[in-house]
Amino acid sequence: MKFIAKTAPIEKETADCVIVGMFESGEFSPAGKKLDTLYQDLLSDSFGRGTLRTTPGQVTTLQDSSRTRHACIIVAGCGKQDRFTIHTLQRALSAAVSEAKARGASSVINGLVEMPVPNADTKSRVQASIVATQDTLYTYTRTKSGASSGKASPKTMKFLASRATETRRIRQGIASGEAIAGGMKLTKDLGNLPGNICTPSYLARQARSLKRDHPNLRVTVLGEVQMKKLGMGAFLSVTHGSAQPAKLVCMEYRGARPGQRPVVLIGKGITFDTGGISLKPGSAMDEMKFDMCGAGSVLGTIKACCMLDLPMNVVGILACAENMPGGKASRPGDVVNTMSGQTVEILNTDAEGRLVLCDALTYAKRFKPELVIDIATLTGACVVALGHVPAGLMSNDEPLVSSLLEAGEHSGDRAWRLPLWDDYQSQLDSNFADMANIGGRWAGTITAACFLSRFTEAFRWAHLDIAGVAWHSQGKRKGATGRPVPLLTEFLLQQATRRRH
Ligand code: BES
Ligand code: MN
Ligand code: ZN
Repeated sequence: MKFIAKTAPIEKETADCVIVGMFESGEFSPAGKKLDTLYQDLLSDSFGRGTLRTTPGQVTTLQDSSRTRHACIIVAGCGKQDRFTIHTLQRALSAAVSEAKARGASSVINGLVEMPVPNADTKSRVQASIVATQDTLYTYTRTKSGASSGKASPKTMKFLASRATETRRIRQGIASGEAIAGGMKLTKDLGNLPGNICTPSYLARQARSLKRDHPNLRVTVLGEVQMKKLGMGAFLSVTHGSAQPAKLVCMEYRGARPGQRPVVLIGKGITFDTGGISLKPGSAMDEMKFDMCGAGSVLGTIKACCMLDLPMNVVGILACAENMPGGKASRPGDVVNTMSGQTVEILNTDAEGRLVLCDALTYAKRFKPELVIDIATLTGACVVALGHVPAGLMSNDEPLVSSLLEAGEHSGDRAWRLPLWDDYQSQLDSNFADMANIGGRWAGTITAACFLSRFTEAFRWAHLDIAGVAWHSQGKRKGATGRPVPLLTEFLLQQATRRRH
């Protein structure tokens, strides 16, 4: 899809389809009002008759005639005006874009983007629109032999402005939106690839291939021998049952002066999680190919940084391994040494994410981070607590929490905080090591974060549990979501502007 910013009145522009928004109150976006006048109260009459659907996610198509300049008008429901957020804008647009595609539209004018969102300027709304549009039009093709049978996607989307200054802001929104959407696409493709293709070595190759187009990226890959030398006994314990060699991939994006401390992003990259000797039940185990989505989202975010030429230093670390049972696999009760010197009793080999992450967190210290964020499909308990709506957020730093929550709201890719109080720490007590790798039945998401917190005392740190949001688990949309690339990229963009002042 090509996105175009243009200073022109909608009355003079031609398109196969115009998308406008309408609140429950009957309030249209400015584009809607102009079309209403142009087409003799077409929109307001329909509203008066009660035929316009106003719930977010619902659309009504009003005109379908190639005789007019605007062959088809899609009215997207926007719900209550005082509850209209970036996230609702994206839901409304997504439904409208699907409708435009179903109708075979090639050119689209986006008038919905003008709907007012509190605290979101034109640039943010355009950015969010592009993310939602590309997200809706994404299709997975990598391991399908036939050509896709569905209708072709629209080819252009225009954003119209009345003044040149606004056109400039639209262009900025297009640039950041395309970067985020580009990162999300990479994250989705990697997540959707099966475990027999997307191995730790494959992820390492993907990281290296990103370097080809972006010279300000440095990629180093540590193998098992190097990890052993560093004392990463927890990380390596996870891969013992697997025929696939583990990899620790470091991607250093240099966008600022060399002395500026980087933001370090660490992704859980379990390319398949069988549970190991603590084997998972068979049903839906295929979904554990998505257990590398944390690493995938770090790769996607680094790609977005490259596309944006972001003036920041960012390090991405991918902790990649496969968790398999086997004669060499770890047993429940095994005690391993972490790189930090602390010992861990592995009471459940299925709690493997924290074992790879703890050593990656210790390793992160060498980059002298400004702050560290880890991203992981860490616990089923997070899906129980929060469902598929926000990511779980836990942190040792209050300002970092606020920034991440805000970036989530602002990008429509939300997170919600859970407490990380010391009261939970004793659930990890072990008689045989410094800590156990599981904390019992209650508050599983928090005790997992408590485990990680024992390796993050040297820096400002936040943990995102994305178990509920990294993929859709059923139906036509089954597949990776590309989250939380929008949240992370938005956060980095905000950090970059803050640091310049
Ligand atoms: N990758 C899983 C978490 C997961 C499970 C995410 C299902 C999404 C859907 C993780 O490695 C895991 O197995 N966690 C265990 C932890 C438990 C053994 C303490 C879990 O959540 O059951
Ligand atoms: Mn597991
Ligand atoms: Zn896992």
